[in-house]
Amino acid sequence: SKKVILDVDTGVDDAIGILLALKSRQMDVLGITTVNGNVSLEAATVNTCKIVELVGVDVPVIMGASSPLIRTPYFEHRIHGEDGIGGALKDMNPQKKPDEGFGPDFIINSILSFPGEVTLVMTAPLTNLALAVKKCPEITRFVKEVIFMGGVVKDFGNVTPTAEYNMYTDPEAAKIVFHAGFPSLTLVGLDVTRKVLLTEEHMDAIQNPVLASYIKESTKDYRQRYFERNHIHGAVMHDPLAVAVAIDTNIVSKKKYYVDVETSSELCDGQTVCDFQNRLGKPANLDVCLEVDDKAFITLFHEVINS
Ligand code: BDR
Ligand code: CA
Repeated sequence: SKKVILDVDTGVDDAIGILLALKSRQMDVLGITTVNGNVSLEAATVNTCKIVELVGVDVPVIMGASSPLIRTPYFEHRIHGEDGIGGALKDMNPQKKPDEGFGPDFIINSILSFPGEVTLVMTAPLTNLALAVKKCPEITRFVKEVIFMGGVVKDFGNVTPTAEYNMYTDPEAAKIVFHAGFPSLTLVGLDVTRKVLLTEEHMDAIQNPVLASYIKESTKDYRQRYFERNHIHGAVMHDPLAVAVAIDTNIVSKKKYYVDVETSSELCDGQTVCDFQNRLGKPANLDVCLEVDDKAFITLFHEVINS
């Protein structure tokens, strides 16, 4: 199985991504690093501990950055609810507490301990990875691959007309990561994640009643928000798709392009600009997901969750 670090701002969809990773036999989750994003660092960490406890596994949870590199936090309570996971586990008082250490250091140490073996799956603003790269640029040579949920290359944004949330909230971090020289850096953006919906029917096919009712309850308001805004029926699987791509890359089709992120525009901050026709003449730095087999995702999801 693959050695994986998850980096999360848990988040309704992050939580489902964590469930998927922890249940997958193909993944050996070395640790979960948390970061400010949808909710505060503290809230994201508590939510992560709750999910770890719900699954009943023992995996380190390490706190990372409490704010973006230079910007102020931008929370998404409208989508993820007051606590960040739709209130589904509000009465749970988890025994699981965060482990010692700082997220970016955990990322660095894990990569250096297992050279060439660690896959990073990032489903949050890229602050922790940017800090890790700044502190230890050599990690780019020793990491196996980085897969992140973020950005959008052809479709529209979900915070501003052009920007996706994880890019918009810390574009300076994204810029550092895009230009760090990772040998394999995969953008799983809104172009594909918007197409992957977990419907109520799909939730009914989850055999474990605890997980089924957790997912239904935590996504209730989240689904409602997406219905109001986009007329989407079902829970959009942004972050779980990034995890799924790490399990089985054939779920998506990708192409290599030069991609940069805007950091100094009133209108377009956080926009991911993909140079489809190589107008800039720069070498490709990212694998961009362009197509997704949403049915294959659902099949994989049920296989993993019901295993
Ligand atoms: C991303 O933004 C967050 O709100 C979600 O958790 C996901 O990581 C989608 O744009
Ligand atoms: Ca997220």
